[in-house]
Amino acid sequence: MQHWDVIVIGAGAAGLMCAAQAAYRGRSVLVVDHGKKPGRKILISGGGRCNFTNLHAEPSAYLCHNPHFVKSALKRFSAHDFVELVERHGLDFYEKTLGQLFCQDSAKDLLNILLSELQYSGAQLQMRCEILNVSATSPGFVLTTNQGALECDSLVVATGGLSMPKLGATPLGYQLAEQFGHHVYPTRAGLVPLTLHDHDKQRFDALAGVSVPVQVRSLHGPAFDESLLFTHRGLSGPVILQASNYWQPGEIIEVDLLSNLDCNQWLKAMARERAKVACKTLLYEKLPKRFVDLLVAEHPAASTAIGQLPSAQRDELANLLNHWQVKPNGTEGYRTAEVTLGGVDTNEISSKTMQSQKVSGLYFIGEVVDVTGWLGGYNFQWAWSSGWAAGQVV
Ligand code: FDA
Repeated sequence: MQHWDVIVIGAGAAGLMCAAQAAYRGRSVLVVDHGKKPGRKILISGGGRCNFTNLHAEPSAYLCHNPHFVKSALKRFSAHDFVELVERHGLDFYEKTLGQLFCQDSAKDLLNILLSELQYSGAQLQMRCEILNVSATSPGFVLTTNQGALECDSLVVATGGLSMPKLGATPLGYQLAEQFGHHVYPTRAGLVPLTLHDHDKQRFDALAGVSVPVQVRSLHGPAFDESLLFTHRGLSGPVILQASNYWQPGEIIEVDLLSNLDCNQWLKAMARERAKVACKTLLYEKLPKRFVDLLVAEHPAASTAIGQLPSAQRDELANLLNHWQVKPNGTEGYRTAEVTLGGVDTNEISSKTMQSQKVSGLYFIGEVVDVTGWLGGYNFQWAWSSGWAAGQVV
């Protein structure tokens, strides 16, 4: 049976980072993955340009049942450390917005960096490797695979989440965690478009393709200022993906359509200064036409000249603009989700090394752990940071 110091299951972002780090320390390292090619999510991420980190990757941008858990790894291997690594390889990249760093040309360039690191470090990669069984020996682990049995001292689970099964996502990591006595928080799709009840789908059908810069406030999370996109299936766009991490079934989401304006004050001022102008004309100046047409169809008072609108109706219109509400009926699920919320309970793994507190030599890194970042490069940064942390000790 082949013996390795370290076996990493999963040749994704976290697994590749961890494997190279461990091999640089002189450990013999094998990465196994059931896919044909490594890093498939990296290749399709960020529209093919991979938003590989965020300069503001602070703990507050992560959802985790223990919000302190991410602090150590993010501090020890930060966004700036990852930037330094890619700069050493001469990657061309740019900041799109809000600290989000993207490859200038292609996500392939980033994956090539990780694969070069893997090669320089001496770690080996074995693709199309199906894991049939994992058992603990003392010390270490034995993996039964379609390519024979493998033995290791340290086993790193880097199998990612459940999103995008087409790209090879499986529940193996959660199953292994449970097999070894770990608690796993229930999983659900995150960074995912929200779907609508039939009546709302019909109501917004004519708006498909319309994008509106808004602020969305969900009951349990922070407010996000980005674009909302109407689609034939429901609501999407960055602001909705962000809010989806915090949204629970049955809840409404509140949308501030003009978040840079106190609409009460604004409409009052318009009533004085532009009394003869119809409300809808004022709205056309601020919001996409098709969206205003919907508001006017549902609130005929908006056709009235602002100066003639009774103050109660003007306040109602202002309230609608700053507090527009919609009640989704679900999410598009793992098929289109970028991430998976929930996962391996962080109370049972070390925040410094990612080692299991139940089974010595077992590690969990990346998305399989109950850590989910906002949209904008935060999830890859978690993969790099947690992979790096484990790579120093396995
Ligand atoms: P990852 O999913 O990368 O890797 C897991 C690996 O394990 C895969 O190679 C898989 O084949 C393997 N595996 C799974 N089950 C196995 C089994 N049973 N046997 C063997 N191998 C198995 N994040 C971000 O920060 N910026 C962005 O731009 C994007 N964009 C984006 C777009 C899309 C469409 C998606 C789906 C996701 C993103 N993300 C993102 C999220 C990001 O891709 C994700 O958080 C990281 O890839 C997680 O890294 P991991 O290494 O944990 O898992």
